[in-house]
Amino acid sequence: MPREIEVLLSKEQIDARVAELALRIDAECGDGEMVVVGVLKGSFIFMADLVRHLKRQLTCDFIRVSSYDKDRSTGIVRMEFDLTQPVGGKNVLLVEDIVDTGTTLRHLLKHLETKRPASLKVCSLLFKDMGTDSRKLIDYLGFEVPRRYVIGYGLDSDGLYRSLPYVGAFKE
Ligand code: PRP
Repeated sequence: MPREIEVLLSKEQIDARVAELALRIDAECGDGEMVVVGVLKGSFIFMADLVRHLKRQLTCDFIRVSSYDKDRSTGIVRMEFDLTQPVGGKNVLLVEDIVDTGTTLRHLLKHLETKRPASLKVCSLLFKDMGTDSRKLIDYLGFEVPRRYVIGYGLDSDGLYRSLPYVGAFKE
C-alpha cells in the first residue's frame, strides 16, 4: 500500500529557491565556462532545473557513487562511474540533491580535487544536519531539512518517489 507523504517543500518553494541559487552562482562564479557535475541519480531533477536558470556557458557531466544499502548509509563510498571529460583548469560546480552524513560529498571533493580544476564549488538542494560539520562544504544551499528521511524531486526510497515534484517525508 502507498505510504502517506507529508510535503516539506512545495514545488513553488523549490522553483523560487532554484532561481535564486542560479542568480547567485552566475553573479559569483566569474564569466568563464563552467562544468556542472551532477551526482547521480538523486541530483538529476535539481540539476536540470538549475542549469536552465544559469545564464553562463556551461557543459554538463555526471558522476555516480553509492554508499547506501536500501535507505541506510554504509559509510563506504563506491565509485560507479567517473566524469567523461578532463576538468583540469576548469570551473567545476558539483551538484548534489542532499548532503546527509557528508560521507559522499567528502569523498567526491577529494576525488575531484585530484583532477586539478581551476575552482570547485558545491551546490546542494538540501542539507540535513547530522552533526558531521558538513554544512561548511556547501557553497550554495537550497534548504536545511529536518532529520527525517526525505523523498521527492530526485530523492528516492528504494528507487521510488524520485518523480514527485515536491520534497516530502513519510508520515509517522
Ligand atoms: C544520496 C544523495 C547523496 C548522498 C548523501 O545518494 O544523492 O549523493 O546520498 O548522503 P551522505 O551525505 O550520507 O553521503 P545515494 O547514494 O542514495 O544514491 P542516489 O543519488 O542514486 O539515490
